[in-house]
Amino acid sequence: MRGMHVIVGGLMSADGKIAPANHKGREFSQYMTSQHEQLLHEIRASVDAVIIGVNTVIADDPSLTVRRAKGRNPLRVILDSQAKTPIESKILNIEEAPTLIAVAKDAPNDKIDLFKSKNVDILFSSTQKIDLNELLVKLSERGVKRVLVEGGGEVRWSFFEQKLVDELFVWIIPAIWGGRNAPTLVDGAGFLSAEDAVNIELKSVKQVEGILILWFSVKR
Ligand SMILES: NC(=O)c1ccc[n+]([C@@H]2O[C@H](COP(=O)([O-])OP(=O)(O)OC[C@H]3O[C@@H](n4cnc5c(N)ncnc54)[C@H](OP(=O)(O)O)[C@@H]3O)[C@@H](O)[C@H]2O)c1
Repeated sequence: MRGMHVIVGGLMSADGKIAPANHKGREFSQYMTSQHEQLLHEIRASVDAVIIGVNTVIADDPSLTVRRAKGRNPLRVILDSQAKTPIESKILNIEEAPTLIAVAKDAPNDKIDLFKSKNVDILFSSTQKIDLNELLVKLSERGVKRVLVEGGGEVRWSFFEQKLVDELFVWIIPAIWGGRNAPTLVDGAGFLSAEDAVNIELKSVKQVEGILILWFSVKR
């Protein structure tokens, strides 16, 4: 979308997994030092909004705030068609950052009312799965110019499938986790031909305390 810069990022094992086969992604946080956390929080502070899928909220319960770096908290956006975000989740209870939950029109009303009681903005999507173009237009109307898609694999796929991504960063931890059911950096249905695949260009490589950090730009 014109006027909107979309960054997708994630941390994966050397074999491409973003969480163990039980999907408990917090296991991977043991590889992150305070310097890594600071770097991640600096990236968060550089965007206007961070986007994650409801499965990540359920699996990892992140707060998605900027704590280890200077800068302001971005708007937190959860893609959650059926309003399944747990009411006790940190995002709903750490109120120092604004939150928006995108739901489908038929999401249960009682849950929507609970979200509203937590000072959360609700965006109703015209489609069952949240329509990302519609979402980006609404975000841009709120002044959002840069977004960071933090995961998980299904949400990253939707952004790549719809050719909405400008930049990608991949953090590679020095470990192999395996697991055919473990989520990977980008999941979804996958592209079946080279014409459809998203081509990327390596822009920078650095190693920070054992983690290899790659930045790519998406070729158009
Ligand atoms: N290492 C990392 O960088 C990292 C980062 C984040 C997460 N993770 C891990 O990733 C796993 C969760 O990832 P996941 O792939 O299972 O789920 P996800 O991407 O977090 O969430 C996917 C869900 O979001 C909802 N959704 C609504 N609109 C969507 C759209 N347009 N496109 C895609 N999804 C949409 C759908 O649920 P509804 O149909 O119910 O709306 C969908 O099932 C966890 O294991 C977590 O630990 C790792």
